[in-house]
Amino acid sequence: MTRVLLISGSTRSASTNTALLRTAAASAPDGIAASVYEGLATLPHFNPDDDHEPLPPAVAELRAAIAASDAVLFCTPEYAGTLPGSMKNLLDWTVGGTELSDKPVAWVNAAADARRGGGANGTLAVVLGYVQTRIVEDACRHVPVAREAIGPDGLVDDAATRAAIADVLTVLVQP
Ligand SMILES: Cc1cc2nc3c(=O)[nH]c(=O)nc-3n(C[C@H](O)[C@H](O)[C@H](O)COP(=O)(O)O)c2cc1C
Repeated sequence: MTRVLLISGSTRSASTNTALLRTAAASAPDGIAASVYEGLATLPHFNPDDDHEPLPPAVAELRAAIAASDAVLFCTPEYAGTLPGSMKNLLDWTVGGTELSDKPVAWVNAAADARRGGGANGTLAVVLGYVQTRIVEDACRHVPVAREAIGPDGLVDDAATRAAIADVLTVLVQP
């Protein structure tokens, strides 16, 4: 079983980005176990003074979740032309660890309009390059999610979207 960690950059309860990743977890192809990281809002503000053992518990959980995964898929909104602060905060907590090094990673852009989100994903690419991940370009795709497409179960209620995000997972974990 190949394990993929799914990290959303949105703290919003009805997030389209998180809904897409929950849909990925629910639609994962055979042989892939995908799980959504749920701790974004509980991470402390990054402080180099605290970046040592024993790490803050939420940070230790984040790093353990990354270490336990074979690949990581990100999906983040764009705020003010770049990453939301909470997402950058999460990434800053990864710099001091080696868990992301050489790890296959990709991102999906869930913006309804493909012309949006480039600032966030551009910054994400810079940071993921800085921490020496292996960016799987073919898995970095636009999978649009309209707010009204999210069903009462929190999943995207659309077969084409489920197929698209399942294909992203397949490509991400290809050797
Ligand atoms: C504070 C704030 C700033 C935003 N800035 C941008 C932006 O610069 N570019 C953009 O395309 N959308 C921007 N948006 C819109 C969000 O990216 C959009 O609503 C997104 O769908 C939110 O993702 P979510 O549904 O996962 O929470 C902004 C939204 C907020 C709340």
